[in-house]
Amino acid sequence: MNALASVDALMQALRDEGYLPDRRLATAVFLALKLQRPLLLEGEPGVGKTALAQALARALQRVLIRLQCYDGMEQREALYEWNYAAQLLHLRAAEAQGRAADMGAAEREVYQDRYLIPRPLLQALRAPAPGAVLLIDEVDRADEPFEAFLLEYLGEYQVSIPEIGTVQAAVTPVTILTSNRTRDLHDAVKRRCLYHWLDYPERERELAIVRAQVPGASDALAQQVALFVSRLRSQPFVDAFQRAPGIAESVEWAKALVALDTLVVDPEVVSDTAGILFKQREDVAALTAALASELLQPEPEAS
Ligand SMILES: Nc1ncnc2c1ncn2[C@@H]1O[C@H](COP(=O)(O)OP(=O)(O)OP(=O)(O)O)[C@@H](O)[C@H]1O
Ligand SMILES: [Mg+2]
Repeated sequence: MNALASVDALMQALRDEGYLPDRRLATAVFLALKLQRPLLLEGEPGVGKTALAQALARALQRVLIRLQCYDGMEQREALYEWNYAAQLLHLRAAEAQGRAADMGAAEREVYQDRYLIPRPLLQALRAPAPGAVLLIDEVDRADEPFEAFLLEYLGEYQVSIPEIGTVQAAVTPVTILTSNRTRDLHDAVKRRCLYHWLDYPERERELAIVRAQVPGASDALAQQVALFVSRLRSQPFVDAFQRAPGIAESVEWAKALVALDTLVVDPEVVSDTAGILFKQREDVAALTAALASELLQPEPEAS
């Protein structure tokens, strides 16, 4: 089925790739595809931002091109750089051939496409049909000049290269930006994107994800994991922690419990494996046996 036929079709296509979106996320992605707008995904760590772009690329059978952002990243790592060594060889050869009189021409020759090393943005613009999915991951880690540099790409799917001119997209790349919101992004970036806040999943969806990704877990164990983690993220428990576990942690935890041959989770197992749910010493300490036993209470029977 064509993933672009409807929101439902897209949801199914993502599910087929092992990614379980909720309807709001699928709608946001669907609209980004239909309107050909970049999609900015913000959310806590481990809620499936990067995984969405990966699954989408597979679902659309497009090549995934990833730009991992970090502080101090330079344009040449994102867009293109010149192959200096090859350019130098070209000039040497021109010199050796006695073309010294016309070194100006030789210098112009080195600014040709074949001496250009395309980096993710340029690769995405040039990707042949069916085009690319460009993942600009953790854009909040890059600095503000880099955000400003992205505007031309995000607004018009084109970039300007001084020696060559403007490069326009062969096929509009599907563009996903992710952010953990370690800082606010510039309004100009946000205006060019559709926006979606990716929340922790509801319990049923988390259960489905754990079941799908940890087939070795029994149904009872998967249920316990999903219930425990969803309670842990809810009031008042979540206040005890600095950072709640994401989906990534639930999946890891379920795998760990299977590896330990756990049949039923009890407070002792929780405390032994707390380092999988939490990555901060204070949070690990806050997950006391008393709290764990409260979180492990079975649900009251529905009457
Ligand atoms: N909706 C989902 N369906 C299936 N698996 C999911 C889903 N969401 C998250 N996951 C699982 O959780 C893992 C972590 O997700 P991912 O790395 O995409 O999180 P993230 O939001 O990019 O986190 P970070 O901000 O730390 O980069 C994925 O490898 C995937 O296994
Ligand atoms: Mg990520």
